[in-house]
Amino acid sequence: FRFERKKMDNLNLFMLIVLSCIFFKLVINSVAKRNLPPGPYRLPIIGNLLQLGKKPHESLTHLGKVHGPLMSLKLGSLTTVVISSPAIAKEVLQKHDQSFSSRTVLDAITIHDDHKYSMIWLPASPQWRALRKLTNSHIFSTQKLDSNQNSRQQKLDELVSYVGRNASSGSAVDIGQVAFTTVLNLMSNSLFSIDLADYNSNSGSTFKNTIRAIMWEAGKPNVSDYFPVLRFLDLQGIRRRTGKYIRILDDIFNQIIDQKLLVLQSREGNSSMSGGDMLDVILDPCHENGIQLQRHEINALLKDFFVAGTDTSSSTVEWAMAELLHNPFKMTKAQQEISTIIGKDRLIKERDIIRLPYLQAIVKETLRLHPPAPFLVPHKAVVDVKMHNFLVPKDAQILVNVSAMGRDPAIWTDPISFNPERFLDSKVDYRGQDFELIPFGSGRRSCPGLPLAHRMVHLIVGLLIQSFDWKLENGMRPEDLSMEEELGFTLTKATGLRAIPTNRL
Ligand code: HEM
Repeated sequence: FRFERKKMDNLNLFMLIVLSCIFFKLVINSVAKRNLPPGPYRLPIIGNLLQLGKKPHESLTHLGKVHGPLMSLKLGSLTTVVISSPAIAKEVLQKHDQSFSSRTVLDAITIHDDHKYSMIWLPASPQWRALRKLTNSHIFSTQKLDSNQNSRQQKLDELVSYVGRNASSGSAVDIGQVAFTTVLNLMSNSLFSIDLADYNSNSGSTFKNTIRAIMWEAGKPNVSDYFPVLRFLDLQGIRRRTGKYIRILDDIFNQIIDQKLLVLQSREGNSSMSGGDMLDVILDPCHENGIQLQRHEINALLKDFFVAGTDTSSSTVEWAMAELLHNPFKMTKAQQEISTIIGKDRLIKERDIIRLPYLQAIVKETLRLHPPAPFLVPHKAVVDVKMHNFLVPKDAQILVNVSAMGRDPAIWTDPISFNPERFLDSKVDYRGQDFELIPFGSGRRSCPGLPLAHRMVHLIVGLLIQSFDWKLENGMRPEDLSMEEELGFTLTKATGLRAIPTNRL
């Protein structure tokens, strides 16, 4: 009997401890909830999902004006904190860089466990650090980019020839499509010296269509992302379809890697491949990078580059051309700069970018008004962080609203106008130090592809306006050109930009 009683006492004590823990957890949660940054009223279960509307970047900009630059929302069951001022963006990306260095992983890309190897989705772990080091020091370093600029120059000559043929026949060009094909080939030639796309839509289009399809799927709002408990159902089929496209990319990259390994074997005995393309660097066991990646890791890295680098770069080109067609005086001014500094006897080269301040200002102004990633790639809080007397809880998704900051009248005079001149006498740059202009992010998770994107975007826009004059199709007047935006995986032009080129050179 005494033994039974002691057992009961122990059980009671255990129950008391469990109940106390639950009680304290509830108290802590409710205190945490009270301390969340201000935000709009949330409906039960769906939270603020309905307030996102068709253009979440505009809706969140509007809500930020009402509730402040540090705002919290509930998107389904996902606590989300939206940052809309350069000062708070600096705190998040610089002062608390490490605490906000993780990612909220999209359900779609978890299908083949890709997120476990991908630089974009890995938390800031030693594995991620090794990938960043390899990328920054050996793949997109100035030295490496300089060493393979000739292969890109050849692709740019092909762009000019293709547009030139349209100019001769007087037919319109879909500038977004042409930019996308050019960016794919610039990247594939820098990475592994192969063309992956063709200007004629029927040939060589598997790769191009697959990349587009992945972005299309990744850009759709997905119930599984807002309600992770429903992930196993994949209600919209997004994960299943994305998985199919990822397999197609894997097959293409596996073939490319196999071919490259054969070439490397045939060259065995020769020392380092530092003069080769970027895949040579990744595969070469003798290379000073000292990082040996497995096949699936190389595959993931290549996918990261193409998914993160193509639409972002090509839509920047499309927006820059749209703004120049919308503002023909600015187009003429840019053409005059190129004629004066480069002349008419040769085409612009990468080394010329630094000598063309107005072209540089055009690219900055385009990225200010139309950042391809209007919320960066969502960050995630690794720990609870106290900011301005509010609590940003662990696991909260962090959206840095770059788009709101780019159009904030408190930061920019006449913010809606396309006015590259504002950057001519200014030192503001997009490399992550000036928080009012951070289209590539800032801090440890900022874009590693910036050096390549910088070269590609300037060169494509520069060559299109150096080599051709442009007018809109069907006699459309510049002021009637629609500048409507659409937010999918990136922020693109809602309607494709079509214009007719005529030869200038
Ligand atoms: C990440 C913008 C081109 C590869 C990012 C981020 C942004 C961005 C905003 C996230 C930063 C953050 O979350 O703090 C852009 C823009 C581009 C561009 C505006 C073109 C105009 C490229 C190119 C490549 C690339 C050409 C590669 C070839 C990546 C990768 C990441 C990334 C791998 C993930 C980095 C990480 O999570 O550690 N980019 N990007 N991007 N970008 Fe870019």
